[in-house]
Amino acid sequence: MIQHSGLIEHHQKDKADRGEARVENLLELVSAARGFDPDGDGSPLQSFLAHAVLESGEGQGTRADDCVQMMTLHTAKGLEFPLVFLSGMEDGLFPHQRSINDLEGLEEERRLCYVGMTRAMRQLYFTYAEQRRLHGVDSHNAPSRFIQELPPDLAKEPDVGPQGEASLKGHLAAWDPVANKEVWRAELGHPWNGGVVSTAGNLVFQGTAMGELIAYSADTGARLWSAQTQAGVLAAPITYEVDGEQYVAIEVGWGGAFGLAAGELALKSHLAANLPRVLAYKLGGKATLPALPVEAPAVLDPPPDRASAATVVAGKKLYHTYCSNCHGDSATGSGVIPDLRYSSVIKDAAAMDVIVRQGSLQANGMVAFKDEVSPQDLDRIRAYVIHRANEDKRRLAESVRNPAAD
Ligand code: HEC
Repeated sequence: MIQHSGLIEHHQKDKADRGEARVENLLELVSAARGFDPDGDGSPLQSFLAHAVLESGEGQGTRADDCVQMMTLHTAKGLEFPLVFLSGMEDGLFPHQRSINDLEGLEEERRLCYVGMTRAMRQLYFTYAEQRRLHGVDSHNAPSRFIQELPPDLAKEPDVGPQGEASLKGHLAAWDPVANKEVWRAELGHPWNGGVVSTAGNLVFQGTAMGELIAYSADTGARLWSAQTQAGVLAAPITYEVDGEQYVAIEVGWGGAFGLAAGELALKSHLAANLPRVLAYKLGGKATLPALPVEAPAVLDPPPDRASAATVVAGKKLYHTYCSNCHGDSATGSGVIPDLRYSSVIKDAAAMDVIVRQGSLQANGMVAFKDEVSPQDLDRIRAYVIHRANEDKRRLAESVRNPAAD
């Protein structure tokens, strides 16, 4: 029938990969039909079609199996499950880029989304990626408009912050390379700690993100000594001898790729104070560190958030392309360089232009973005940072009013 219909020749004319894939699908259909063993009621053709729709995919679980079933929205038609996940819920994917400006296409996809949603008997999850790489290009899509269209009292945005935080851990492990196994482990609670030095005297020294220099027994991992460094540590200590006395010196100060880019997670992963110093220790040393300077808590005081949602989404994309690697994910600084939500510069478009595009702080590491960021794009970035600052100001005010919910 396929041969008589001319379908194969028709698809072969389509030179794109799509044509080839369709021909392959047709041939696969023939081999699937050949291997099909009809059972149950109805004609063999009917039961084959039902089988193809319902059971498509190798090794689908049966009703009694405790398993995850993956399927397209179209194959899900007519089925129901207690728990359903709809993934890739982003503008550009669902609804598809092609449909976004086409009212009819959009309506069709909205109906399809409704089909997917109504497959859930008890619970429905939507997932979307803030950033995805498709065909080698990074994109930052907005969450699907179909999510925004839900009645707000039915949808709940889960706070994934606690899970993210709980997944961040750190430890120092001693490894026996001959036996190829771990010998001891010191849990540090936080990632992104300092380098290590070991001495001939059976000691291991390491500084931590939480501002402690620790000495362990090299063979057992027993904790022998520690000192507060008043700043997170990234560098490795060194050890040296002067007039028969051994010293351990370390450069303290925190930052680095995770320390700058990870935003709120980085903020919580190191000692808030970040005083860069070199500290040296020896047995019987008497010097103590001065008390930490007391700093007034920073106050979030952003200008009002007046930009349209589209401007904020565009600004978010630009911010995460050009700024987040230093100023932190989601415009949340880690306390190492200025947190733009708290910066008074965001109140003043001209001042922002002088710093960001002209590079007036270039000597301090704030490079000029004149060639990358147009004045319009800088306005979008500013709108996004202002939006984020207002969002967090509201959140802070709510947690003060209602601490139990925090
Ligand atoms: C390579 C790292 C890096 C990148 C990328 C970067 N910045 Fe900066 N930025 C800095 C540093 C470092 C400072 C602090 C300079 C100083 O201490 O004077 C700074 C300071 C600033 C300030 C001044 C804040 C204040 O209150 O003093 C603004 C505004 C700013 N950056 C905006 C941006 C924007 C917008 C982008 C993206 C287009 C961006 N930065 C990208 C490193 C960076």
